[in-house]
Amino acid sequence: MKAAWIAAALMSGMMFSASSQAAKVYQVGTDAAYAPFESVNEKKEVVGFDIEVMSAIAAKAGLQVKFINTPWEGIFATLGNGERDIVISAVTITPERKQTMDFSDPYFEAKQLIAIGPNSKVAKFADLKTLKIGVQTGTTGDEVVQKLQGKTSANIKRFESTPLALKELLNGGVDAVVADNGVVVNFIANNKGSKLKTIDDSSFAKEYYGIAVKKGNKELLAKLNKGLADIKADGSYAKIHKKYFGQ
Ligand code: ARG
Repeated sequence: MKAAWIAAALMSGMMFSASSQAAKVYQVGTDAAYAPFESVNEKKEVVGFDIEVMSAIAAKAGLQVKFINTPWEGIFATLGNGERDIVISAVTITPERKQTMDFSDPYFEAKQLIAIGPNSKVAKFADLKTLKIGVQTGTTGDEVVQKLQGKTSANIKRFESTPLALKELLNGGVDAVVADNGVVVNFIANNKGSKLKTIDDSSFAKEYYGIAVKKGNKELLAKLNKGLADIKADGSYAKIHKKYFGQ
């Protein structure tokens, strides 16, 4: 009698943990002010290239995911404190970041790009040495400008999002913006009247975006990498890439 009751209790406990595992919804953080990678549409849904890539990976890996718009500043801390399980946010894999979080295999190649107004005389990155530059705080764009001007330069104008920095360029509040190429190109395409120009500088290194997880979460990372390899192999990655970037 007693044994049977214990067995039944154990069974239901096992079933409970099995079902609660199956019901785990992975919380995915993304700073959705970064079209075409992540943005919020009219229906208030988080959409974009990263969202489709992550959803396709999740489907392959059998993971349930929920995208949560999360400010860039502090986004990495949400992995450490467990508020988010995954961050996909056009995040460049850097040696410094690798010390505090783990990254999937690269899923996208990017580069910094300079945006300037139609009448600017700037021709190369070095010309920005003493000019006012807009960047998104804590991005790789911020890092390259710090290298040029010095960490404490008062001419580095930091914004909480890249579109805000680009709007400030339209308003004449900064002389240039340095940010990821895909986002700069997208902004200009959507603000044609502005006649902003871009400058690609050979000093900018190639960057690779990765999906970030809490440091040491090898199990989840393995699933993401497997899913990423699967969507590359079956052509679904190429399809999403084509939808957003052509060819
Ligand atoms: N790739 C750049 C970096 O990692 C900028 C990423 C910003 N992403 C965003 N969704 N705001 O620093």
